[in-house]
Amino acid sequence: MADRRNFFHDILNNPRLFLFIRAILDGGQVRYLKGLLEEYRAGSILDVACGCGTFCRITPHEYLGVDYNEAFISFCRRKYGGGGRERKKRFVVMDATDMKTDRRFDTAVIINSIHHFPDDEVVSIFTSMRDITERLVIVHDAVPRKNPVSRFFYRLDRGTHFRTVEEQKSLIARAGLVVQDVRYFKGTAGIYLHSTVICTKKG
Ligand SMILES: C[S@@+](CC[C@H](N)C(=O)[O-])C[C@H]1O[C@@H](n2cnc3c(N)ncnc32)[C@H](O)[C@@H]1O
Repeated sequence: MADRRNFFHDILNNPRLFLFIRAILDGGQVRYLKGLLEEYRAGSILDVACGCGTFCRITPHEYLGVDYNEAFISFCRRKYGGGGRERKKRFVVMDATDMKTDRRFDTAVIINSIHHFPDDEVVSIFTSMRDITERLVIVHDAVPRKNPVSRFFYRLDRGTHFRTVEEQKSLIARAGLVVQDVRYFKGTAGIYLHSTVICTKKG
């Protein structure tokens, strides 16, 4: 299994292959999250651990994507950071566990990424997102599944901290955020199931 995992991880480190596999197994998330942000009338977006920048398309508003993978950020800038309408899209190399921005955003999202971090780091990331955000923090991630096909794919993932919604909620509460709603998104053939937890600040 270790060899298979390493082989798969090398593939996932290539932005084009990552996007190809994502499109097959888990397409439709951009449209789903775009609809959700429209529903909540979200404005400017901070996207934490933005990867290859796929989700800069969820908003017509100002967008900043941060990720610690320099190759991914270079890819994002080449693909989405051009002129015209795309001028609103910016990408910066940054460690999610030590985030510093010169401004605040209406909404902060973390998409398909919290399973890469242990609990304490997730709480610290959520706390920074809360402080950088005016209004909403949105946590979108795969939740554990019992069927053997899903378990096979989850085991190949680079992240190992898949959490139930209840487990996510307890970390969200530790960061001083309040859950307003939970939605679900099912990927191709139901292999991946994602929860989307929509949070606001306390008070
Ligand atoms: C599964 S990818 C998800 C990327 C993107 N959000 C998406 O859904 O396409 C997880 C991302 O977390 C990033 N990541 C992991 N640890 C990080 C850290 N400490 N700081 C910033 N990014 C990190 C990885 O580089 C990777 O791009």
